[in-house]
Amino acid sequence: MTESKLYIEGGRKISGEIGVHGAKNSVLPVLAATLLSGGVCVIHNCPALSDVFSSCRILRSLGCKCRREGNTVEIDSGSISDYEISEQLMREMRSSIVFLGAILGRLRRCRLSFPGGCELGPRPIDIHLSGLRRLGAKIYEDHGVLDCTLSGAVTGADITLTLPSVGATENIMLAAVLGTGETVIRNAAREPEIADLAGFLNACGADISGQGSSTVTVRGVQSLHGAEYTVMPDRIVAATYMGAAAITGGELMLKGVRPSDMYSTVSVFEQMGCGVYPYSDRIYISAKKPLQAVKTVRTMPYPGFPTDCQPIVMAVLTKAKGTSVIVENIFENRFRAAPELRRLGADIKAEGKVAVIEGVARLSGTATVATDLRAGAALVLGGLAAEGTTTVSNLHYIDRGYESIETALRSVGARIRRN
Ligand code: UD1
Repeated sequence: MTESKLYIEGGRKISGEIGVHGAKNSVLPVLAATLLSGGVCVIHNCPALSDVFSSCRILRSLGCKCRREGNTVEIDSGSISDYEISEQLMREMRSSIVFLGAILGRLRRCRLSFPGGCELGPRPIDIHLSGLRRLGAKIYEDHGVLDCTLSGAVTGADITLTLPSVGATENIMLAAVLGTGETVIRNAAREPEIADLAGFLNACGADISGQGSSTVTVRGVQSLHGAEYTVMPDRIVAATYMGAAAITGGELMLKGVRPSDMYSTVSVFEQMGCGVYPYSDRIYISAKKPLQAVKTVRTMPYPGFPTDCQPIVMAVLTKAKGTSVIVENIFENRFRAAPELRRLGADIKAEGKVAVIEGVARLSGTATVATDLRAGAALVLGGLAAEGTTTVSNLHYIDRGYESIETALRSVGARIRRN
């Protein structure tokens, strides 16, 4: 069977309202964290994404009961029976590494295969492992398999990360929650998804403070209990739909978002000349004026401009008058949208960490291939603005992070279908 593609008839202005689903980067660690509770957890706002389904398969393989109804997932981790994740399940989703801290914290033993690289280049986990070693874990690596053991309860540690890795901060928090001592994580990632994970763990009885700042303190507790929790909205998905409005000269009300998590992204759209109006749980964007180039967009850890939004903004800047420069500081291989956007007629030169974009008056539709999740979203935006038909293939990437992107965009006037 050939994989389906998106077919986009470009040139239609986006206009209307979209409700933004729960955050992929929050729901994955939260689902892993349910392992620590030992009880029944009810997680609301879980988007229907392939990565979420993979997480549920991992939870089931470990012996948990996992049931989904609409966007609510119920997990009973009382019956956990295994500490090993198969290589096949690990390969399905790179971010499954966040299960390491959770399994280790619950069972004091975890075996899983090394995640290796991904589309964005090498994805090292040295910071995760050195943090877990500081908590007392013994870690053996053999032929790509990690075997981690804690000989007793975590008694706390003072850990300074060499860089504010999101995944390492999460893994250390997860491993330190059940224990007797105080763990301080310095130079911790400040991403809102970290605060969401801490919010969930605290709802289960954990004692975590400082989340959202660069010093997170985890005071060990004896046990946790089940809890009900609603995952935060996806700020990258929200930015993608803002991009759809901007690149088509349209307007959009995004519902169910947290504008306070999105200031650096909002600022870039404002610099392009869009009107952006944040309300408490909504953002309105209007792109009535021609788009202007942005001198420099630099990706940085939160609260800086997010690397996940970079390909999205790159797509929009292809139509902005003047020369824009993007500097990618987080991942080596994150300009993979550029060659495909060039096929649509964009003028982009990318080398190393820097991409230079000369805005063009028109893009024209052609066949494109998604090379990773956000590059795929960038091509969809390019297709919305291009004259004629654009196809986007390799949709399994897009489906990892967007709940039916075509349904959302069709509801606001785009001509887009999956076939
Ligand atoms: C998370 C997000 C991802 C986002 C990224 C940066 C999830 C599931 N994914 O990924 O969408 O793009 O944050 O905001 O939440 N690094 C090391 N050693 C380590 C760990 C990381 O050198 O042990 C480097 C990475 O190669 C990268 C940088 O640190 O250059 C940031 O990575 P990190 O913050 O860990 O990203 P992830 O948690 O993998």
